[in-house]
Amino acid sequence: MSTLVRVWDLPTRLFHWALAICMVLGIVFVKIGGNAIQWHAYCGYTALALILFRVIWGFVGSWHARFANFIPSPSKLIAFLRGQVDGGLGHNPLGALSVIALLTVILIQALTGLFADDDIFFQGPLAKYVSNSTVALLTSIHRFNQYLIFALVGLHIAAISYYYFVKRENLVRPMVTGDKSIATKSPLAVEIDSFRQRMIALAVFLLISLGLYILIA
Ligand code: HEM
Ligand code: HEM
Repeated sequence: MSTLVRVWDLPTRLFHWALAICMVLGIVFVKIGGNAIQWHAYCGYTALALILFRVIWGFVGSWHARFANFIPSPSKLIAFLRGQVDGGLGHNPLGALSVIALLTVILIQALTGLFADDDIFFQGPLAKYVSNSTVALLTSIHRFNQYLIFALVGLHIAAISYYYFVKRENLVRPMVTGDKSIATKSPLAVEIDSFRQRMIALAVFLLISLGLYILIA
């Protein structure tokens, strides 16, 4: 008999899909060019708020959202790669590394964007506080880093497709519904996704957004 357990809490799921939407729209707007760069910036600010939220949630969120519960030790990673241990309920050890890499490159992209300048239509809100050479450097990093993001998102989607088509495991459904089906209920599977916790997540996100608004307004 199998039972459904909550793996991804609502804040983590909302974070994920909102981030994916912001990234896609942000890139579409910047490629449209011209005044659409303003909308690129709005998507970028939202992505930044989401990533900062996720970093905090990685410390105070529910079990599977916490970094301490999914970032693997080298020995655990090696054991997983050798097939000696299974991936567990949340991010598997290899997936965990890709999550950290994705969060890092997107954070770098959003932060450098705040200082970027396209020399025509738009300047990031913090560019005026630094020298021209720093603006030029951070704009170059912003331009180059996009390829790391494309590579990692490509890898991300390839890995999920591999799980779906080869390993016959649907990872997308749990990222939508929050739940995974397991054979027996383990104590670790008892996941908190309560109203109270969701309200804490909302408060954290609103505080981050307010802080960012004050910084860039
Ligand atoms: C720009 C697009 C995307 C970005 C930046 C992105 C980023 C991320 C991040 C940061 C996580 C970790 C979630 C967390 O613990 O907070 C994650 C997990 C996940 N993403 Fe995405 N994602 C994108 C697109 C997609 C798409 C299109 C799909 C579905 C086809 C998808 C499916 C998933 C799934 C299933 C997981 C959980 C993987 C697991 O079980 O370990 N993502 N993604
Ligand atoms: C995670 C969020 C972000 C992503 C994924 C992203 C992505 C990109 C990409 C792909 C480009 C095109 C680079 C090129 O090929 O020339 C670009 C350019 C640009 N972005 Fe962002 N960006 C983000 C956040 C931001 C933010 C927050 C701002 C400022 C508020 C910003 C301002 C700019 C500017 C001014 C350019 C033009 C730079 C140039 O002329 O080369 N971006 N961004």
